[in-house]
Amino acid sequence: MSTTEQRVAVVTGGARGIGAATAVRLAAEGRAVAVIDLDEAACKDTVEKITAAGGRAIAVGADVSDETQVEAAVARVVDELGAPTILINNAGVLRDNLLFKMSVADWDTVLGVHLRGSFLMAKAVQKHMVDAGFGRIVNLSSSSALGNRGQANYSAAKAGMQGFTKTLAIELGKFGITANAVAPGFIATEMTKATAERVKMGFEEFKAAAATQIPVARVGEPEDIANAIAFFTDEAAGFVSGQVLYVAGGPLD
Ligand SMILES: NC(=O)c1ccc[n+]([C@@H]2O[C@H](COP(=O)([O-])OP(=O)(O)OC[C@H]3O[C@@H](n4cnc5c(N)ncnc54)[C@H](O)[C@@H]3O)[C@@H](O)[C@H]2O)c1
Repeated sequence: MSTTEQRVAVVTGGARGIGAATAVRLAAEGRAVAVIDLDEAACKDTVEKITAAGGRAIAVGADVSDETQVEAAVARVVDELGAPTILINNAGVLRDNLLFKMSVADWDTVLGVHLRGSFLMAKAVQKHMVDAGFGRIVNLSSSSALGNRGQANYSAAKAGMQGFTKTLAIELGKFGITANAVAPGFIATEMTKATAERVKMGFEEFKAAAATQIPVARVGEPEDIANAIAFFTDEAAGFVSGQVLYVAGGPLD
């Protein structure tokens, strides 16, 4: 590939929240972007934002935990945008509950979307990266990887994302591919809004309470995470691999 050719990025869970902000940011950096989410129609806003600003983007409906749908989605990206060499594994779900109340289905769903989904996406995209001699993989971990009450499934998945990232970095480095993880703290999205509803708090009150525990004295916005992801996908970031960056408004253990 010539350096002037546009690189193709895939962002999972790109219909809203951190994924949408990341898709918009990567497009602003000159990438063509495939916005993947469960419902193709839900990706429309993100795609329109990108195309209105003069970028290239497509919406693709797929469940990242389904092997057949992932393979079909990546084939569509190759056909319609070109071979993807940037992958952001961002799709995510919560099924919070204390261990004794957590169902096996809730465990499987969370592990399925985050870990199986990221594995399937990385497997489907890596051959295009190897062919190009270039790749950037960014996996979304979380501050919950360090442990969080009510999130045995989610914290296991997000800690798993870190081990997965480091192994990809080791296996794929010689092909010009880096793999890094971004681990957000509290970010204001539909995901944290749903958590506020679950604990019967207004979202503004919930955010204000969270901000008192954050050194920069505010909660994060999706663009804060998109910014960190953009750094790892940069052409010049080829010597940064296997890292976990906590983006949480302060240090975490
Ligand atoms: N918001 C936070 O505070 C926070 C903190 C740490 C980590 N994260 C992580 O960041 C990522 C994005 O979170 P968000 O807050 O933007 O969440 P969000 O709920 O706003 O968006 C997640 C998106 O993923 C999509 N999705 C869910 N399951 C999918 C599947 N099987 N296939 C395809 N798409 C699927 C949803 O439809 C949704 O559009 C997630 O991995 C999340 O775990 C978020």
